Amino acid sequence: MAIRKIAHIGHPVLRQPSRVVGADELASPEFQRLIDDLIETMRDANGAGLAAPQIYEPVRLCALEVNNNPRYPYKPRIPLTVLINPVIELRTDERFDNYEGCLSVPNFRGVAPRATEIRVTALDREGKAIDRVVRGLTAGTFQHEVDHLDGLLFLDRMVDPKTLTTWPEFERHHQAAFVERAKALVARYGE
Ligand code: NI
Repeated sequence: MAIRKIAHIGHPVLRQPSRVVGADELASPEFQRLIDDLIETMRDANGAGLAAPQIYEPVRLCALEVNNNPRYPYKPRIPLTVLINPVIELRTDERFDNYEGCLSVPNFRGVAPRATEIRVTALDREGKAIDRVVRGLTAGTFQHEVDHLDGLLFLDRMVDPKTLTTWPEFERHHQAAFVERAKALVARYGE
């Protein structure tokens, strides 16, 4: 396993649609190593998730995990989840204003409206089908990661550019209000 370099905004790899992963490719030792590297890099950087194009591999693979994350102390726990060829279906017109950050957009956060309930279908790393409904704050995290596979960053989802803030200014001026909103969402959905 290895910690990979993380691509930053401006690099074209973050702006292209990633390609679908084939069944044989998924089972290969090389691809399984890529999954391990993605997980290790995500954990090293304290990411809540990481998508393969963020480590310069434009394939439809992402990982999510939240466990007392210092970058996102208000986020509910997400057990380690690896998604291959994920597809998200929005199950509601309801949106919540998620304050997002991204390891590929260093030092910035901004508000991206996200659906409060989604269905995710994908394969896991063994090629088994995943089909689940995800709600609340966690649904926002899934939408952010899958967006990366379509060459989208949270900046593209922002409705109001004035919400863009550095992390220190977020903590000073926006965190308290957002944590209250986040807690209400977690209380409502349990995730
Ligand atoms: Ni990101």
